[in-house]
Amino acid sequence: GTSDTDPDAQYDFMVVSNRLPVDRCSSDEPGCEGGWRRSPGGLVTALAPMMTKTDGAWVGWHGAPDEQIQPFSHGGIDLVPVQLSTQDIELFYEGFSNATLWPLYHDVIAPPEFHRTWWDSYRKVNRRFADAVVHHASHGATVWVQDYQLQLVPKMLREARPDLKIGFFNHIPFPPPEIFAQLPWRKAIIDGLLGADLVGFQRSSDAGNFMRSARRFLGASVKQQQVHVKGSDGQTTHIARAQAFPISIDVQQISELAQNPEIIERARQIRRDLGNPKTILLGVDRLDYTKGIRHRLKAYEELLSDGKVTVEDAALIQVASPSRERVEQYRLLREEVEGTVGHINGTYDTLQNTAVRYLHHNYPIDEMVALYLAADVMLVTALRDGMNLVAKEYVTARTNNDGALVLSEFAGAADQLKQALLMNPHDIDGLKDTIMRAVNMQPAEAARRMRSMRKQILDHDVDLWSSDFLNALKEKVIRDDS
Ligand code: G6P
Repeated sequence: GTSDTDPDAQYDFMVVSNRLPVDRCSSDEPGCEGGWRRSPGGLVTALAPMMTKTDGAWVGWHGAPDEQIQPFSHGGIDLVPVQLSTQDIELFYEGFSNATLWPLYHDVIAPPEFHRTWWDSYRKVNRRFADAVVHHASHGATVWVQDYQLQLVPKMLREARPDLKIGFFNHIPFPPPEIFAQLPWRKAIIDGLLGADLVGFQRSSDAGNFMRSARRFLGASVKQQQVHVKGSDGQTTHIARAQAFPISIDVQQISELAQNPEIIERARQIRRDLGNPKTILLGVDRLDYTKGIRHRLKAYEELLSDGKVTVEDAALIQVASPSRERVEQYRLLREEVEGTVGHINGTYDTLQNTAVRYLHHNYPIDEMVALYLAADVMLVTALRDGMNLVAKEYVTARTNNDGALVLSEFAGAADQLKQALLMNPHDIDGLKDTIMRAVNMQPAEAARRMRSMRKQILDHDVDLWSSDFLNALKEKVIRDDS
């Protein structure tokens, strides 16, 4: 443990995530300060005010291999970098995090690989993150650990520092015990998570899956949302609560951008550049096999070949941002998607119009909002997704209450956006019918649906998500030892 005289043990609030909320940049790029830029994404915006208010710090990896960086401050947030070696990146990050846990937790859409060397690295790197917190957290500090890359950290923290309040939030799905059972280290993972006082999930079904696994694999007793864990002395019990806290977006930021005249004009420009199709369909995803991009392309291609739409009627913009490019399954997916896009365009393009405008790029949020404004139909066809914030951003950007959202029931967002056109992306005929319903939707129905979805999101933005979680973390557990 740390002593109260340790000058580094200064933070009352700490967030821990695999990635720090900053990216490297060069000084001529906009927003670049001292070689770093704040990374996009709701988590950063949600937590930034809290961090400054409560003397907080963020612990995470800065994204470069082998580089050791001293703690520094950026945009008012203190950052504590954790180093990853080239080998850690290969075994802990690309291996155990992204080729074992990621596919296992997303319904084994791709086959998870189980390697003992990856697991050893996962444990070792989780220990390094925990050590950084132990060193920097003040007595009684609140620590909020994020996501599947760091599931062992809560238990490591509780053992080293029983004075801490420990929260954990899982941004991705938690699988049913029947699938989780495959993991050779299933007990250690559940045990690691149960070190937290509060374990948060996107959907209540994820929290339910976790509690069933705690019962099945650790023999824990579960009452309501409380998991009772026996200490190693067999005497004391620690209670971890499991609960859903659906994450959201920075509603104000997206609404403001959506009403900015320059961005509205940019949206018109995008439509002209595409040759003025009647309908623009849009997909925006990290290039990941969980997102159902192939299913979406297949449905669209069949609509073209059935003659239900032509390229003048309906063009598809697919933004696929580069992701995890050294992991085998991601390479395969990229080849397949790009082959399919080439095939569709070769078959259906004319000199004026293109069927699929495929963009393997990252765009700044302004350009994303312009795309949302240009799109008549948003396609979110994930085969499994913790939440899917693109769905929430699209709805928030549609300040005129027009446009249609086609949304997979396998995305967490489906629990909140009940007025979307919900569908099962595995059912290609159903997906095609739903796309046609969206394309042909009457303005009155579109407005009724969009208004109700917008209200849901406007009432539940990301500030509410983080304050709900942190308030629940403060609450005392109700002990019922009877
Ligand atoms: C998902 C995960 C995040 C992760 C992000 C990007 O949203 O929940 O933890 O940071 O994907 O993936 P990457 O591997 O590039 O960090």
